[in-house]
This record gives sequence, structure tokens and C-alpha cells, in this order.
Amino acid sequence: MTTLDIDALRRGFPALSVSHGDRPLVFLDGPGGTQVPDAVIDAVAGYYRTSNANHGGAFETSRRSAAIVEDAHAALADLLGVDADEIVVGPNMTTLTFHLSRSIGAGLEPGDEVVLTGLDHAANVDPWLAIAADRGLVVRWWEPNLDDCTLDLGGLEALLSPRTRLVAVGWASNAVGTINPIARIAAAAHRVGALVYVDAVHAAPHLAIDARAVDADFVACSVYKFFGPHLGAVYGRRSILAALRAYKVRPADHRFETGTGNFEGQAGALAAIGYLEDVGRMAGAPAGSTRRERLVTAMGAIREVEMVLYRRLHDGLAAIPGLTLYGIVDPDAFDRRTPTAAFTLAGLGAPEVARRLGDAGIAVWDGHFYALGLVERLGLEGSGGLVRLGLTHYNTAGEVDRALEVLREIAAGGGAAGAEPAEPRIAAAR
Ligand SMILES: Cc1ncc(COP(=O)(O)O)c(C=O)c1O
Repeated sequence: MTTLDIDALRRGFPALSVSHGDRPLVFLDGPGGTQVPDAVIDAVAGYYRTSNANHGGAFETSRRSAAIVEDAHAALADLLGVDADEIVVGPNMTTLTFHLSRSIGAGLEPGDEVVLTGLDHAANVDPWLAIAADRGLVVRWWEPNLDDCTLDLGGLEALLSPRTRLVAVGWASNAVGTINPIARIAAAAHRVGALVYVDAVHAAPHLAIDARAVDADFVACSVYKFFGPHLGAVYGRRSILAALRAYKVRPADHRFETGTGNFEGQAGALAAIGYLEDVGRMAGAPAGSTRRERLVTAMGAIREVEMVLYRRLHDGLAAIPGLTLYGIVDPDAFDRRTPTAAFTLAGLGAPEVARRLGDAGIAVWDGHFYALGLVERLGLEGSGGLVRLGLTHYNTAGEVDRALEVLREIAAGGGAAGAEPAEPRIAAAR
């Protein structure tokens, strides 16, 4: 039994009432960006109403704006389980990762090695490829097991060497939902003295993140994936940030936040984390709890709700003739996946399936979702990639059933002319 009143939470999200014909639009596009609650919308608007100013001024709105930014850093730190001075905020995860990769790369020598994965989003691959090209680094590829889109620790061990300086890995795959064993990855990397840069963009809306517990050196996330505005944040271990070369202008106080910040976005980030705290209260976090405790409670409850829904989605998808699911499909291993389903449908390209779902009022993404390496390795890049249905806690069983109903109709009548009728299949492509 869930402790969350999803209907009550949904009422706080105005976009969930946007209609498509005579029914509300169904948002299964969460991995691409979630909807935001009224509290976030009000906080962004409220910033402009009462606190809009640049920082460092000896007047009220400038002080208020600076206080919001300080509070937002503290809130993001609580979300990731770290301290506020270890949080770097920027326009988005990709820009921050390019920025930090330059600082990290400044300390690397030709012949040093970086480990990248074939599972990750391009945002945790391409910045390192760029710095590798600039600095003459050697790139070692940690290849995913394509049967279930997982990364095997033995594969990492085989790549590590005394020259390994960095392992860049996702906490969870935004394409197929695989959750990676970050604590074990970090331990292995640290044994050879390498840093671990973790992309938690897809994990943060679904899991309680504890950067210290897994001993990551960097953990990046994006606020628009967890009910907030378009903003990125990265945790960097204090001692490492202090030792890195900072590319900054001389007068700037913050070593890694260059130029004027998105202050209204940070007001919204604070409110998004406030929303999650409310979810934590609803899930039973006691009155005297800390913000971190409320957030951990919230994420536990969200995880529970989402995975009940995911099993329903999985069972429905697995029964559709011609549908091939990618990633972890064994229900006994669902603790190692997020509620993000990716599939192909025999005889129809992913763009066509997504278009028909969209026409029926169901918002989903198709293609490679920037997890280009994985979709290429699966051999799907030339045929339109994958269809992705991503659940968040604000989705309902009714929405899942609606999506399944439309997909069954598409599968029954929608195959390309001449396509063979196919049996249900949940094996991977290869
Ligand atoms: C797993 C993952 N990493 C990184 C990113 C890039 O984040 P941003 O849009 O904040 O640059 C995304 C965005 O989709 C993502 O899903």
C-alpha cells in the first residue's frame, strides 16, 4: 500500500490537466524532463516579483537574491547527501560537465587514461572525449552487456591500470533504466587512484542519492528532471574542487560558477526540493526530521510507487506481439532498474510509434535520447532507435493502461505492409 496520495500530488501540477481532445495528456516523457508543481512556478515568478537583482549590492533585493542562491545550494546538497560548498550550479549538466572536464583535464598528462562507458548519455562521454583529444589521453571503453544493457564490474577491473585517472559512469541509464553499482565502481576506481564522475541525471528523480555513501568524487544532476526548472548541479568532493584549476574571472567569488547565475532557476530549484520534502512528509517523515531525512523518505516512497506502476507497464508491454523490450527485463532484478521502459515494435520505426502515441495524447520520446553509444551498439541507430516510456510518481495506473491500449492497437494494425506477424519477445536485439 502506497503512503502517497498521488491524486493530491497531481493536483499540484497544472500541466497534468493539459488536455488532448477530451482527455488529459498523458506524460510518459519524464526522463526527458518532468512537469513542475505550482510551488515551483510560484517561486520562479515570486523571485521576479520580490527578489530580482544581481548579487553583491547593499540593498534589499540583492540580499534576498543572494540568500535564495545560498539556500538553493544547501537544498541541493541535502538532496545529494553532501555540503553546500561542494555544490556547483550551472545552466545544465552538460555545460557543467564540459566546464569541469576542462579543469580536471588541466591536471592530466598525455598517456593518462579515462574509462568511458557504452551505456552513458553523451553528456558524460563527449566532454571526456574532447578533453582526451586535447590532452592526448587514452580512452578505454567499458562495454555494456547488450543482452540486458548492464555494465559488468569485471569489465571495469580489466580496464583499470595505474594510468587510469578518471571513470565516467552513469548512476542510471536514461535510455533503458539500468541502475549501476556506483559504490562498487567507485571502490574499484579508487583502488587505482582514479576519480569517479557520476552522471545521476536519470537517477535523481527516482532514487535517494547519497554521494558520500557511494564515495563518488563528482555527482551531476539536472533540476528539470526532478520537478524543477532548467538548471544543472554537480557535487564535487571539497578536497578535489579545491585542488582543481578553476577557469574563472578574477573578481568572481565562486571558483566554478562563472558569470551571473540563473537566480530565478535557483529559486525554483529550492521550491522543487521543497516539493520533495512535502512528499517526504506525506510519506511519514516526522515533524522534527531534517530536510535530508524528508528527502530520503520521499525518494523511498517515490521509488515504491513508481516500481508498482512499472511492473504493470512491463507486464503489459511484454504481452504485446512484436514488441522487444531492452534493458533489464527480469522482474526479480527490477531493483536494478528505474521505471523507464525502452522498446521497438516489429515492422514500425520508433518515430512512427511515438507519433501515433502522441496523436493519441500520450507523450513519449523516441530515438537515442543522447544515449547514442548504446543505441548504436544495439544496432538501432539506423532504424530510428527506441521508443521510451518513462514513469514518474505522478503517473497513474489509468495512464499506463491507456498507453498500453494504444500500443496494442498500434501493434495489431500498425505494422508496415508486408511485416511478419510477430510473437511477444523480451530478449534484447542481439
Ligand atoms: C542521463 C542523462 N545525463 C545527462 C543529461 C544531460 O543533462 P542536461 O540536459 O542538464 O545537460 C541527460 C538529459 O537528458 C540525461 O538524461
